[in-house]
Amino acid sequence: MSATSAAESNAIPAYLPLRNDLIGEEPYGAPQLDVPICLNVNENPYAPEPAVVETIAQRVKEIAPTLNRYPDREHIELRKAFSKYLERESGVRLDVDQLWGANGSNEIMLQLFQAFGGPGRTALGCDPTYSMYPEYARDTFTTWKLAHRNADFTLDVDATIKAIEEVKPAMIVLTSPNNPTGTPLKPEDLKRVLEAARTAEVAGAAEGVHPVVVVDEAYIEFRDPGTPTALELIGEYENLAVSRTMSKAFAFAGARVGYMAASKGIIDCVRIVRMPYHLSAVTQAAALAAFEHTDEQLSRVNHLRETRNATAAWLKQQTYKGQPLEVAETQSNFILFGGHFDDRDRIFDELLKRGVLIRVVGPEGWMRVCMGTDEEMARFREALVETLRIVEKG
Ligand SMILES: Cc1ncc(COP(=O)(O)O)c(C=O)c1O
Repeated sequence: MSATSAAESNAIPAYLPLRNDLIGEEPYGAPQLDVPICLNVNENPYAPEPAVVETIAQRVKEIAPTLNRYPDREHIELRKAFSKYLERESGVRLDVDQLWGANGSNEIMLQLFQAFGGPGRTALGCDPTYSMYPEYARDTFTTWKLAHRNADFTLDVDATIKAIEEVKPAMIVLTSPNNPTGTPLKPEDLKRVLEAARTAEVAGAAEGVHPVVVVDEAYIEFRDPGTPTALELIGEYENLAVSRTMSKAFAFAGARVGYMAASKGIIDCVRIVRMPYHLSAVTQAAALAAFEHTDEQLSRVNHLRETRNATAAWLKQQTYKGQPLEVAETQSNFILFGGHFDDRDRIFDELLKRGVLIRVVGPEGWMRVCMGTDEEMARFREALVETLRIVEKG
């Protein structure tokens, strides 16, 4: 594409030397619209309670006089807090040198791609999955490849292992629960992939080098109680990295704090590519303050799980063009539903007219809705019933 057509497509001035492979690309992101009911980016809809707000303000005030200095580059206190949190949440004990934080798990993932991807390297995901992964790959000059999932969106382990043998990826990215489908990753499926990766070759790398398996657990706190997490396998698999975030269940998306648990070796690789002082003192103080209130921050997770189960059951009773809606099995705070929507954009628009913002994402025919407050979900139900009746009439 010429520079002129790039300028036409996304208004980038033609005289700027934008990288050739970025010409025509658009910035990533779901629409940020000013609508009453936003159920499109998988946030926790419940705002921090006044006591939490108070502690955050206090802790930020305490560090404000030190803001002439750079923050702790290694964010040791915060890594200790991740360790304490994960032990409580998943029963897994991890040392500070097995933990690493960044500005959202987006940045964690980008750092992993920077460290293990690159020209001549391939990363493998399982389709459909989170739509940011190809962007991290593009930005790090990594080739992005996909193995397909089963029709019910579970991992097709045989296809994934075949793809590992064929493309010899440096990274294998699994998502649990998966976005946009909500599908949990079965522990036995993860084990099979980890075993395959243990001996798999990496194209362009020396003999004895094996792929890193990244499990993105952004939504894992919404899983049904008792379900294991990939964290339990970190001691056993040196090439496993588990990405987590404070953005979802922990209700802290605005602060931009993600983290990862992995072997010290993986953390040390990522430390090579991180920006110096990437986590601001304000971010570190705010995150530590929020961890002082872990109970309050997580207090709505149970309720959101119940909302998810009730909404899934309700959606299954709805019909479109004479057929019941399909609902993907989910262990997350969102639901992929529809399955046979023949005009997703129209459904999206009609919902929006009624003040409800959801997401057109995933395979053709499906849409994703994130769990809101009880009032928001009541409005969603009302708007969806009206919308489906209008759209099916044509
Ligand atoms: C699967 C998955 N991973 C990672 C992220 C990034 O979250 P954050 O950067 O807020 O931690 C998201 C956000 O929606 C996601 O869906």
